Amino acid sequence: MKNTSDLRVVVLGAAAGGGLPQWNCGCRNCSAAREPGSSLRPQTQSSLAVSLDGEAWAIFNASPDIRQQIQDNRALQPRRLRHSPINSLVLTNGDIDHLAGLLVLREKQPFTVFATGAVAEVIADNPVFGVLDPGLVSTRVVAIEEPFFPLPGLEARLLAVPGKVPLFLEDGDPELEVEGEQTVGLELRADGKRLYYIPGCGALSDRLVARLEGADALFFDGTLFSDDEMIAAGVGQKTGRRMGHMPIAGEDGSLKALGPLKVPRKIYVHINNTNPIWQAGPEREQVEGHGFEVGFDGMEIRL
Ligand code: MLT
Ligand code: MN
Ligand code: ZN
Repeated sequence: MKNTSDLRVVVLGAAAGGGLPQWNCGCRNCSAAREPGSSLRPQTQSSLAVSLDGEAWAIFNASPDIRQQIQDNRALQPRRLRHSPINSLVLTNGDIDHLAGLLVLREKQPFTVFATGAVAEVIADNPVFGVLDPGLVSTRVVAIEEPFFPLPGLEARLLAVPGKVPLFLEDGDPELEVEGEQTVGLELRADGKRLYYIPGCGALSDRLVARLEGADALFFDGTLFSDDEMIAAGVGQKTGRRMGHMPIAGEDGSLKALGPLKVPRKIYVHINNTNPIWQAGPEREQVEGHGFEVGFDGMEIRL
């Protein structure tokens, strides 16, 4: 049968919150990314773009870097006076790296925002988001597992994955690895293809791993290589798990759980600037040896 779809997925931003380089960081990766001519290119914050026809696009997570991401991707630029190919935005949590871009998109342009009730509440509770004209920008609350269409022909479902409330809503020690509306992944289907986008995940249950088996592509949380990486690098006191991100390496890491899956494209995204996989070395070799690719800005896959 002829494959009628041309499902395109573009990594708009491969880095986690802060980007690479992060404005106040002088770690090995951030320093390398600032060097002119360096083989380590700067990377923007967490976002994917998806299209079925190259004309209409859905954006998954509104990165604070979305203005630059549009500038870097011609397909997302206006075709005429006051126009945008961006039809919709889908949000996977309420963290700043996934929400702040909404403020950049405030120039009287219609689009739809899809989010869980909990994430929609974060937007509704913050008056600054009122700059998005409610007559033009509508927020559609979507229940976990309820099918919805960010683009005609692109069927999406939000799946609950273990996570926590956004950092700015933490009040003391938050409950970790909560499966609910605070952190979700996405299942996307079009013309018999199935893919997943899970940029934040605190832990992997057998049930979730089983669901991912046999997909055509998987974009997964590659925030930290090791759980204590930020402590070891001297840039912070938090483990990955405390931030709601499971590590890549180790017995409980994502590489061990997901490496064996028969998924032809397995790609780490939402990669923190401290992560050693940004550069050549044993960690990167380990990841690639287990069939994972390291996402980068501008990476495009077609299914
Ligand atoms: C995260 O992914 O942990 C968040 O983006 C943290 C943050 O808001 O800086
Ligand atoms: Mn983040
Ligand atoms: Zn850094």
